[in-house]
Parts: sequence; structure tokens; C-alpha cells
Amino acid sequence: MNRPFQLEAETSLGPPSNIPTQSNGLVRDISKTSSHTKALLYEWSEHERSERAIPSYLREVYSWAYLNPCNARLLDCEAVVATLLWGNNSRLRRALLAEIGAGERVLQAAHVYGRLIPDVARVVGLAGHLDVIDVVPLQVALCRLKLRPFSNARARVGDATQPGDPIYDTVSCFFLLHEIPDELKRAVVDALLSRLAPGGKAVFIDYHKPHWSHPLKGITSLVFDSLEPFAKGLWQKEISQFASGSGEFVWNKETYFAGLFQKVVARRTAEPSSWK
Ligand SMILES: C[S@@+](CC[C@H](N)C(=O)[O-])C[C@H]1O[C@@H](n2cnc3c(N)ncnc32)[C@H](O)[C@@H]1O
Repeated sequence: MNRPFQLEAETSLGPPSNIPTQSNGLVRDISKTSSHTKALLYEWSEHERSERAIPSYLREVYSWAYLNPCNARLLDCEAVVATLLWGNNSRLRRALLAEIGAGERVLQAAHVYGRLIPDVARVVGLAGHLDVIDVVPLQVALCRLKLRPFSNARARVGDATQPGDPIYDTVSCFFLLHEIPDELKRAVVDALLSRLAPGGKAVFIDYHKPHWSHPLKGITSLVFDSLEPFAKGLWQKEISQFASGSGEFVWNKETYFAGLFQKVVARRTAEPSSWK
């Protein structure tokens, strides 16, 4: 869907500048507005509602990274992702792309800075479809800019705990779980697994507990303690342990960079009990 107003308008808390407002900022009598303006107003109230739906953990911990429009634009590049992942960005992106086939229906559970999203759209190809959800409207707007050249992909505001009704061949969860409080990790894992068709797979790529002798374990631990308070949940538990119906899946885990990162693939072997 074409957005009738620009990124700037989407990222500020107020109606788009082309909507007639009074001096106190309130929107003028809607009955006197054109149908185009009504459409804009509708878009704006949707935007405002979804701004309010942003989870408290995200506001409290990650506001600087995902809600601040200036920072978000600066951070949204591959060099930043490469730095955060100690140069493993390409390798981990390839590990995800290797799990996705042309023509598949794919759900990407959150926007990711850098080139990963368009790369997924490219691999899925015209015969397939990519849905990206993100709980932050600004992130959805950034994602839509990247997806402009792709008619097979769309981005919408959505929470990974409630990804909607569609069923997918592959669900990708790339470095999202470590940013989610432990009590919500289960809700995210369960919700994403519930969207898989029989034979479909969920791919979780994220941090993993490295060996005690890993030279970067100490610094990673310090960074987690100061900036990523929910990340160590992935050091304490396997991702499969966050799944309520783990028996309906075949689980495979690979680690990277001497155990600092992991790829966990859960392939659905049986129909979920809720479908029967
Ligand atoms: C994928 S994660 C971390 C990725 C990594 N730091 C990067 O971008 O390179 C970041 C995204 O997750 C989104 N997010 C956080 N909680 C979410 C949730 N419950 N549902 C959907 N998206 C969520 C944030 O808005 C943000 O855009």
C-alpha cells in the first residue's frame, strides 16, 4: 500500500503537516475535510494507536536504538551490524538465506538494520512472498523504504507475540529474542512456531553462550549487563526450551564464532494440536 505521507510524518507524534489543524494542534472539524485528508487522518490515528502499542521493555531499554528517528537512520547500515556482530554479519546472513527457498512464503519477525531484509526478498523471488512485521512504526517505515523495489514483499506494524493469521513456509527471527524479556520469549517463540505450515521451519539466529575461554566472553557479558538486559536468557536456556510444544518439531542447532552465536532451526513435523 502506498503511504500518503512521508517518513518524517510517520515518526513524529502528531498529524501529518498537510492535515489542517487549529493553533492548539487539534485537527479541525473532520466533516469539513476532503476525502484525501480523511484518509490521512485515518492513517495518522492508526499510526498513533500503534505508537501506543510499543512494549514497555522496548521503550525503557531500546528507545535510543529503535524509536529515535535520527539514531535509527544512522544505525540502519551494514557497517553498524558488522560492528555489533564482530564482523560475523555476512556469515550469519548467509546462514539465514541458506534456509530460505525461492517461491516460499516467509515471515520476518522484526526489521533488521542493514541489507538482510532486501536480501531475503531477493531470495524469496517473485514466486514467493515476504511479510515483515515490526512493533515500531518508524522501523516499519525504514523497512518499507528498503522494500520499495520488491513487489513480492510488504512490511506492517505487528508484534511478534501476535504475528497474525497467515501460515508460512519459513519464519525468520534474526537477533530478536535476545532483546525480549525472558517472560515474553516463550510468547514470541510459540507465536512464531504456530504460523508454520506442516514441513515449514522457523530459523532463530541469535546470541549463544560461548565457551568460558572465549576471548570475547568477558566484554560480551559486560555489554549485556549494561545495554542488553535480556540477552543472557539465551545463555541460560536453549531456544527449544522456550517452545511450549517443542515435541511437534525437529530441532537443529549450529553455533558460530566459537559459540558466541547460534542458528536454531525448528522444522514442524506434525500439525499443531489447535488445527485438529
Ligand atoms: C531484530 S531486533 C535486533 C536486530 C539487530 N540489532 C539489528 O537490527 O541489526 C530489532 C527490531 O526488533 C523490533 N522489535 C522488538 N520487539 C518486537 C516485538 N515484540 N515484535 C516485533 N518487533 C519487535 C524492534 O522494533 C527493532 O526494529
